[in-house]
Amino acid sequence: MRKIVIRGGKTLQGEVEISGAKNSVVALIPASIMADSPVVLEGVPDISDVKSLIEIIELMGAKVERMGDTLTIDPTHVKSTPMPSGKINSLRASYYFMGALLGKFNEAVVGLPGGCDLGPRPIDLHLKGFEALGAEIKNENGAMYLKAANGTLEGAHIFMDNVSVGATINIMLASVHTKGITVIENVAREPEIIDVATLLNNMGARVRGAGTDEIRITGVKELHGTRHSVIPDRIEAGTYLALAAAQEAGSGIKVSNVLYEHLESFILKLEEMGVEMVVREDSIEVKPSKQLKMVQVKTYPYPGFATDLQQPLTSLMLKATGVGSVQDTIYEKRVNHVPELARMGGDIQLEQNKVIVHGPNTLHGAEVVASDLRAGAALVVAGLLASGETTISNVEFILRGYDNIIEKVRKLGGDIELIEE
Ligand code: UD1
Repeated sequence: MRKIVIRGGKTLQGEVEISGAKNSVVALIPASIMADSPVVLEGVPDISDVKSLIEIIELMGAKVERMGDTLTIDPTHVKSTPMPSGKINSLRASYYFMGALLGKFNEAVVGLPGGCDLGPRPIDLHLKGFEALGAEIKNENGAMYLKAANGTLEGAHIFMDNVSVGATINIMLASVHTKGITVIENVAREPEIIDVATLLNNMGARVRGAGTDEIRITGVKELHGTRHSVIPDRIEAGTYLALAAAQEAGSGIKVSNVLYEHLESFILKLEEMGVEMVVREDSIEVKPSKQLKMVQVKTYPYPGFATDLQQPLTSLMLKATGVGSVQDTIYEKRVNHVPELARMGGDIQLEQNKVIVHGPNTLHGAEVVASDLRAGAALVVAGLLASGETTISNVEFILRGYDNIIEKVRKLGGDIELIEE
């Protein structure tokens, strides 16, 4: 079993470079297999979710080459291979193979997705969208069997009952080759959706409106290879910004390869806390702050405050003065970091589904458990702020989504190591 050990309390400073977005790349890889010639993805993060996706597409017949952060995917020999179990069950984003395979071959067998336990994570909206396009769906022995009823999918008008990132991307993938036009209303507007639409369009698809609440797709017959740069990971950037804002001394931390526009609600929240930042075209420099003000946070779909950033921000809030609250309207049960932060000396409780923080707190090291990816990130931030030693177990979750986190934190002066037990 691997663990992360942090000896906290050190002043961090310097520069950290953000990698390509996990939530983009986990959709870009399944999208790439829809092409009929090689797709080159640049800025691919070195995370275990990417390794799992590569293994899956290789099983389907894709040839994959990785050189640094460039991934070349040759999908020429990809077949509609049934993927009822195995790796596919290990990650949430494997559901994108439903849309990609159904779109490409008009049929797919894909195991039910795994991923972080944030409470119920249904895929009903994905399935309703596929059905609207003319797919017949059976759920048997933990796998979804999808098939175009008339041999091919047809364009449709779809209204999403709930704003969902995954369902938006998945229906977009399935619609790319449909006969006629598909209109999807009330879609999610996350930057990752624009990134996937950009790749698809560069492959020859006709997707319009990504980034607004209505996407219109005109079916095309073929998709070809292309070259695409993955957008920077706004959640990784937000995590390092929270860590930077918690520094009381030193020369500050520059977070580079970040797009301010993707992080506006988060940065405004940091400003409300009194954090001083210099925003440049592709970097944000954070000055050390001695006194932070407490804030109230409520998560919403983009451009609202990201659910993925509420846990890392909570660790910073422990340092602020006053009474604060965090309410996650997207995943109410995304609160597993709360008992762990309390174990580290944080005055933090759960009242119904609201996290209440009293601060400021002096944190101390403890043995804690990462229950999910972003809870793990919150514990890394807290461990670096705490005095003494923090040992985090279940770190596989963290390594699923943070590229070279040990090396990046060390470069900033943090005392952190990954140990094998
Ligand atoms: C994606 C992100 C995840 C992020 C989340 C919300 C990826 C791989 N993961 O997850 O990091 O926390 O967006 O920003 O991109 N819902 C339904 N039915 C569905 C689908 C979703 O009721 O069919 C609900 C969910 O339970 C949740 C809300 O809609 O309450 C939003 O979920 P969604 O945007 O779909 O999250 P994911 O795409 O799974």
